[in-house]
Amino acid sequence: MSKNKILIIGAHGQIGTVLTKELQEIYGLDAVVASDLKPKSGFSGVFEILDGTDFESLQAIVQKHEIKQIYHLAAILSARGEQAPLDTWEINMKLMFNVFEVARLNQVGKVFFPSSIAVFGDEASPILTPQDTFLNPATVYGMSKASGENWAQYYFTKYGIDIRSIRYPGIIGYQSLPGGGTTDYAVEIYHKAINGEDFSCFLKKDTQLPMIFMDDAIRATIEIMEAPIESISVRTSYNMASMSFTPEEIADSIKEIYPDFKIEYHPDYRQEIASKWPQSIDDSKAQEDWNWKAQYDLKSMTAIMLEKLEDKNKI
Ligand code: NAD
Ligand code: SER
Repeated sequence: MSKNKILIIGAHGQIGTVLTKELQEIYGLDAVVASDLKPKSGFSGVFEILDGTDFESLQAIVQKHEIKQIYHLAAILSARGEQAPLDTWEINMKLMFNVFEVARLNQVGKVFFPSSIAVFGDEASPILTPQDTFLNPATVYGMSKASGENWAQYYFTKYGIDIRSIRYPGIIGYQSLPGGGTTDYAVEIYHKAINGEDFSCFLKKDTQLPMIFMDDAIRATIEIMEAPIESISVRTSYNMASMSFTPEEIADSIKEIYPDFKIEYHPDYRQEIASKWPQSIDDSKAQEDWNWKAQYDLKSMTAIMLEKLEDKNKI
C-alpha cells in the first residue's frame, strides 16, 4: 500500500477530472482515491461516493484509505453561487471546515485548497493585481474563498497543517466541461466553434480576465504540492498568472483557424461579476518561491483546444 495516499474531493469536476488522471499517472492507480457526489461512467481507479459536507462520511473515507494528502476541489462557483447566496456560503464553508478539521484530527499531512481571482474586488488594482492587497470580493463565492485563505493560514500557524493554495485564474481545458463559473464562456466558445455554431457571449467584448490553460493549471497544482515546505512563504494563497484576454480576442484567435466563426455579445448578470475582477495578475511571488512559469499563450491554447475537441467529436 502507498505510504502517501491521496484523496480528491470533487474529482469529477472540470479540474478534478484532469488532476485525478495526472495524479494516478504519477503515483499509481491505487494511491489515488477519487470522490464526488456521484460516480461517473468510464472512470477507472478507486472511487468513493462522498458528500464532503458530511463530516462523518469524509472522516470514514480518510481513515479507511489511510489518506495522507487531500485535494479539496469541491465548491459552488461564482455564477451559480449568486443564484443562492446563503446556500453557497453554507456549502463552501462547511466543505472547507470539514476538510481542514479532518486533516487536523487524522494526521493528513498536506492539503490543497484552491482559491480564485474572485477574492479580489474593485478596491484592488485591476492591472497586475498584487499578491498582497485589500480583498473586497463582490460574490459569495469570492467571500468564501477569501475567508478560506485566512482559515488555511490559521490551520497552518496554529496546528501545523500544511495547506497550500493557488488563486487560479479562469481555467480552460478540452477534457471536461466547467460548472457554474463566470469564466466558463472561454471554454464554451471552443465547443461552439468546432460544431460550426455561432456563440452568444454573456460578457461584453472588451472584458479582460486572467485565464490559464488546463495543462499549466494542473502542472502548477502538482508543483506547489511537491515544493519543499521551506519554499512556501505564502500561507493564504498564491497569485498565479498565465494569459489575459477579452471575448473579442479569443474569438479572433478562433477566427484565425475557423474564419467563418461568429460571436455576438449579450451581457447578463455575470458581466457585473467579471467587471470587479482583475484584468491581469502579478504572480512574482509564486515565481520566486516555487519557480512558477506558465507555458501557454492564447494562440497556442486555441490551436490545441480546437484540435483536441475536433478529435473528440470524431469519436
Ligand atoms: P466544478 O464545479 O467543475 O467541480 C466541482 C466538483 O465538486 C463537481 O464534480 C461536484 O459534483 C463536486 N461537488 C460539489 N459539491 C460537493 C460536495 N458537497 N461534496 C463532494 N463533491 C461536491 O469546479 P472546478 O472548476 O473543477 O473547480 C474546482 C475548484 O477549483 C473549486 O474549488 C473552484 O472554486 C476552484 N477554481 C476553479 C476555477 C475554474 O476556472 N474552474 C478557477 C478558480 C478556482
Ligand atoms: N473560474 C471561476 C469562476 O468563474 C473563478 O474562480 O467562478
